[in-house]
Amino acid sequence: MVNSTDFSLYNNFAAAVLILDTDNRIVFKNMSFVKSFGSVKNLEKFSKYFSFDICMLDSENILNANPVTFAVESKESFSAQAVYQKSKDQFFYYAIKSFFADGFKILIFKNITSEILYEETEKKYTFIRQQYLSLAQENKRFADLQQSSQAQAVKLALMHRISNVIRESMDISKILNSTLKELFNLFGAVKVYYVKNEQNAFYVEHVYPSQFKNVIGEKADFSADTKKSVRDKKIKVRSCIKDYQNSENTFPAPVNRIIVPVTRLHDVLGVLIIYTNQKYFEESHSDVLHSVASQLGSAIVQASLFAQVKQKNEELETTLKELKETQIQLINSEKMASLGQLVAGVAHEINTPLGSINANNDILAKLIKKLDGSCNDKMLVENIDNINKIDKEAIKRISNIVKSLKRFVRLDESDLQLADINREIDLTLELIKHETKNKIQIVKNYAQLPEIKCYPNMLNQVFMNILINACQSIEKTGMITITTGFENNRLIVKIKDTGCGIDDSIKDKIFAAGTTTKKIGIGTGLGLAICQKIIEKHKGSISFTSQKNAGTEFKIEIPAG
Ligand SMILES: Nc1ncnc2c1ncn2[C@@H]1O[C@H](COP(=O)(O)OP(=O)(O)OP(=O)(O)O)[C@@H](O)[C@H]1O
Ligand SMILES: [Mg+2]
Repeated sequence: MVNSTDFSLYNNFAAAVLILDTDNRIVFKNMSFVKSFGSVKNLEKFSKYFSFDICMLDSENILNANPVTFAVESKESFSAQAVYQKSKDQFFYYAIKSFFADGFKILIFKNITSEILYEETEKKYTFIRQQYLSLAQENKRFADLQQSSQAQAVKLALMHRISNVIRESMDISKILNSTLKELFNLFGAVKVYYVKNEQNAFYVEHVYPSQFKNVIGEKADFSADTKKSVRDKKIKVRSCIKDYQNSENTFPAPVNRIIVPVTRLHDVLGVLIIYTNQKYFEESHSDVLHSVASQLGSAIVQASLFAQVKQKNEELETTLKELKETQIQLINSEKMASLGQLVAGVAHEINTPLGSINANNDILAKLIKKLDGSCNDKMLVENIDNINKIDKEAIKRISNIVKSLKRFVRLDESDLQLADINREIDLTLELIKHETKNKIQIVKNYAQLPEIKCYPNMLNQVFMNILINACQSIEKTGMITITTGFENNRLIVKIKDTGCGIDDSIKDKIFAAGTTTKKIGIGTGLGLAICQKIIEKHKGSISFTSQKNAGTEFKIEIPAG
């Protein structure tokens, strides 16, 4: 048994010491205890100031559990960390230990407030620092992401705009202009060039803004270094004071020159050159430029293929047109030549027997005169005389037709000649009398015309075709009105019929070869095509107005010499 005086040993302890007997009565408080907690008499009351700080108990009991009560009542050694609330806003941390010694329970209260606070501050500091670091990391990641998504958005928008232009246009100059403009804006550039590669020599093909267009066509000479990076299809940024080596254009202060090779598969088609005051060239820009250059490369190849195809098409179309015209001319001259020869041959063949008939007719007339004196049958003589006179008229008519035919074809007159157009139309009317007789009334509104320098045989063909078309458009009876005039040194001929009118379906292709509504054997559809060619040869014009079931009028105008 230890007597109370023995406990004085504990007064040397820095920690507070409380000693209880087996009935949990306070038997000793060392000096440190009294200093810290005062003269504690009631253990239960004293314990109320404590609560667990770090508790090993389950959460359900935590509120009711008290560290001092635990220390007092524990049958074994006990230790815990507790909080001591001295006043409303004054707290201290204590490490409480209890153990048995010689039947007494020794409770030691070690003030660990400063240690705890330091530890906690340290912990808090570490935690905050960690938070700060991860926040900073997160911020950086976010900023990077924002920057890259911004760059991505700029790139996408730019690519979208450029793709749109490329899709909508096959015009190289339009495509280049839009691309250069976009790059000009993106880089806040001073100017942007596209130089074209022509057998390893570079020539300025396009420039933006257009105020610098005086350099278009200029040869751009690059340093060996730049040429190598172009060959290697690499983007190069270099400070410069001149457009390129051989250029006379100098900048007031050095600017950055960005060289972007424009390629298609293995070929370098050209180079984009951006002159900018921007000092820093970001990685994302290089990405954008590569995409722009590759899009541009495809677009240039596409557009030039398109231009080639277009040119080939145009050439083909012209060749086809020329072929058609030659064909019409060939057909026409063939038709005219064979018709002319035929007419000339027939005329000649008719002329010879006609000559003898005419001579015989004259002899017969003389004989009739002689017979008139000697023959008693006056009636017979009169009849023979009448027949002779009718024959004379018939011979005259045949002779006139033959003469008209010969004049109409005019085989030997292929040069320009002076002609009276009213007479030429009459000549043509003479030849188509069989079409008009008893069916169509011909009204002539002829003006006094000067002689016109023209190819009369050709113009006769025109009148003939238009008049025959007019006759064929009149089913039963009708009228053809021919008006001639001379205004502002131009000959005007109008041929109007009261026929069926021109079919709407062929109105816009009536002058094209092969357009016909007539049956095979009646029309070839070449008539008006040939007419148009002939009028063009005279530097004139041919047009028409037509109304269904009311009639048609063709109008020809020819400048007089
Ligand atoms: N005066 C007209 N009235 C109604 N239709 C006309 C008239 N003139 C021309 N046409 C229409 O235009 C078509 C083309 O005329 P075009 O003279 O070129 O050929 P075509 O008369 O048919 O044949 P071709 O002249 O070779 O004998 C005719 O088939 C006819 O349908
Ligand atoms: Mg015709």
